[in-house]
Amino acid sequence: MAKVKSAYFCQNCGTQYAKWVGQCTVCKAWNTVVEEVIHKEKDEAWRKRDGNKGKNATPLPIKEIQTDKEIRIDLHDDEINRVLGGGLVPGSMVLLGGEPGIGKSTLILQIVLKLPQKTLYVSGEESQRQIKMRADRLKSDGDQCYVLTETNTHRIFDQISVIKPHLLVIDSIQTLHSDIIESPAGSISQVRQCTSELIRFAKETHTPVILIGHITKDGNIAGPKILEHMVDTVLQFEGDHNYVFRILRSLKNRFGSTSELGIYEMLGDGLKEIRNPSEVLISKDGEDLSGTAIAATLEGARPLMIEIQALVSSAVYGTPQRSTTGYNAKRLNMLLAVLEKRAGFRLAAKDVFLNITGGIRVDDPAIDLAVVAAILSSGADIPVDKGSCFAAEIGLAGEIRAVQRIDQRILEADKLGFHTIFIAKSNQVSVKKVNIKIVRLTRIEDITKALFT
Ligand code: TYD
Ligand code: MG
Repeated sequence: MAKVKSAYFCQNCGTQYAKWVGQCTVCKAWNTVVEEVIHKEKDEAWRKRDGNKGKNATPLPIKEIQTDKEIRIDLHDDEINRVLGGGLVPGSMVLLGGEPGIGKSTLILQIVLKLPQKTLYVSGEESQRQIKMRADRLKSDGDQCYVLTETNTHRIFDQISVIKPHLLVIDSIQTLHSDIIESPAGSISQVRQCTSELIRFAKETHTPVILIGHITKDGNIAGPKILEHMVDTVLQFEGDHNYVFRILRSLKNRFGSTSELGIYEMLGDGLKEIRNPSEVLISKDGEDLSGTAIAATLEGARPLMIEIQALVSSAVYGTPQRSTTGYNAKRLNMLLAVLEKRAGFRLAAKDVFLNITGGIRVDDPAIDLAVVAAILSSGADIPVDKGSCFAAEIGLAGEIRAVQRIDQRILEADKLGFHTIFIAKSNQVSVKKVNIKIVRLTRIEDITKALFT
């Protein structure tokens, strides 16, 4: 047994201290520094296996370094493939985070059951029988999927040496523990130690590893922030429990763009990829209701039509309420202030509620115009024509601003049968043969005239 020593680490940013301090000098967080037992042979767990004596790394001219950049493992699921940037990169570490019960285990199990590659699914949370029951529910049993219930990294590596999987799944990283460290599973030092052992395994054997991670109440992946720094890709699985839609986002990706998004629907027999999200997210039939407007937004490379609902009513209490679901509340306040100042709408004594339907969260500024249209429609109680949609940003001076990739938005709206799209006057449009009518607006005051007369 090698010498055991301890040090103090900030749980927030991972800074190491020789003695305890009340405030981390780097990230300025209070009470985040805790004592952890550290071990001299930190990352040796994987190396110590038979046949992994560990090679000494030597520097190479960058020209001579072999890359296998183009090799991607196809996961046979278009949504996750796209979010990863075209498939899984050999030797990469992917961390999938999400709230409990959102469907992380279901998503990964469903993928590995369909994979032709040999996979080891290590679960520290569920027994082999429970996983089998889930597989039955998903109506598939892949013959290349091995299930192991184990939480000790050393014993996991023993099994890896026997099975030699081409993909390793850990469900979840917070349940693992390494012999080297004494603190309990899920503690900062354990999470970090187990992750670094797994990284070493992934990089040395070129086996991709998918880690499932818990998420804390405030939406961060539990464990030190450095966990996110250690892995190559961080994916987040999110959605509203009351809706069937689930969204897969990438928060960090060393091998692709982070703006891609995958949409799934949670059904009784697993998650279904949604290939035509626009058609699913907007209700095209039914009567015209005031307070609803359709925005042509983009998520990653994909255009997406979403429905925005607003409710404007007289404030019951002295301070009016402003509440949003799926939209930034500060942005709503800004738009209301612009409407008040530049277009003379008296909204100060009104409650305003805003909702993006389908439980989806959107950050694209191009939905501003649709938000304003929905608010005005609700305020005046006049429905916006169901065949109209919107794509423009609104500036503080009340000007309607151009948005990027307008052509794609117009084409999507045209494809879905909208007859009018409202955009900024300054937006350059190069698409030609479209049936949709393009209405150009300059100022926020123009909207009411364009919509309701
Ligand atoms: P799960 O994958 O266990 O969530 P996580 O691993 O993120 O904690 O998902 C559990 C939820 O998904 C549970 O509420 C039941 C639901 N579910 C379905 O609706 N359909 C299915 O086919 C499966 C397997 C689960
Ligand atoms: Mg789970």
